[in-house]
Amino acid sequence: MFVELERLAMRREPVPAVVRAEPRPERTVLVRVFRGGTGVSAPRMVAYPVPVHKGMTVLDALLWIKEHADPTLAFRSSCRMGICGSCGMLIRGEARLACETQVATLGTEVIEVAPLPNFPLIRDLATDFTDFFGHHRRIRPHLHPPDDQDSGPFQEEFRQTEAERLEYYQFTMCIMCGLCDAACPIVALDREFLGPQALTQAYRFAADSRDGGQADRMRIVDTAHGCWRCELAGSCSAVCPKGVDPALATQLLKREVLRRRLRRS
Ligand code: FES
Repeated sequence: MFVELERLAMRREPVPAVVRAEPRPERTVLVRVFRGGTGVSAPRMVAYPVPVHKGMTVLDALLWIKEHADPTLAFRSSCRMGICGSCGMLIRGEARLACETQVATLGTEVIEVAPLPNFPLIRDLATDFTDFFGHHRRIRPHLHPPDDQDSGPFQEEFRQTEAERLEYYQFTMCIMCGLCDAACPIVALDREFLGPQALTQAYRFAADSRDGGQADRMRIVDTAHGCWRCELAGSCSAVCPKGVDPALATQLLKREVLRRRLRRS
């Protein structure tokens, strides 16, 4: 192929345009999408018939709507492969990643898509993550030098055994999609609550043998709006698309807080 293109270029012959083969649609589904938001028209559900093909995801269906039916439809996406965490939304009433939800697996001819609950609405399927990121930042989500480390450059690497790494490894898989906070009944009631995502990351660092920032972090999570506000509904873990278990992390964080309190007393 490349040799052929090179040959045409050398002879200054026109290079044929690459034609993208559109997969053949197998059937049509009705995608009912929430439309509305601040300063826009009244909230409503709008139905779009979408031709679907094998392997098509809900995100593909929304992109099809934007391209062929209504370019004003607002939603977020980037990687289209479950990594960036930007395409979280409510699909048939469940918080999911649109790029990881195949239309065929939903087994229905009508798909309802709505913005994530527990997040302020911006427009259509786009929600405001300002508080969510703020809670994440509050727990200081990075490794802090150990207490006995002076402020100079590190003299050697921080060694860790495999067992020590496994203490926190699953919690590093968080992609900050916000599905856990969207599913949490306490986040729905208490806007100050740190939420399952931030608490999970607080535990991720508390469990890391290299970290020396626990004292600071504990002051933030050991509060009325911190880990004690969690009532262990477990819905956060049920919706996590990456297999992280925020309900477990929050309970382990409570244990860590109690341990530290006992050590102080
Ligand atoms: Fe990146 Fe869905 S588009 S996670």
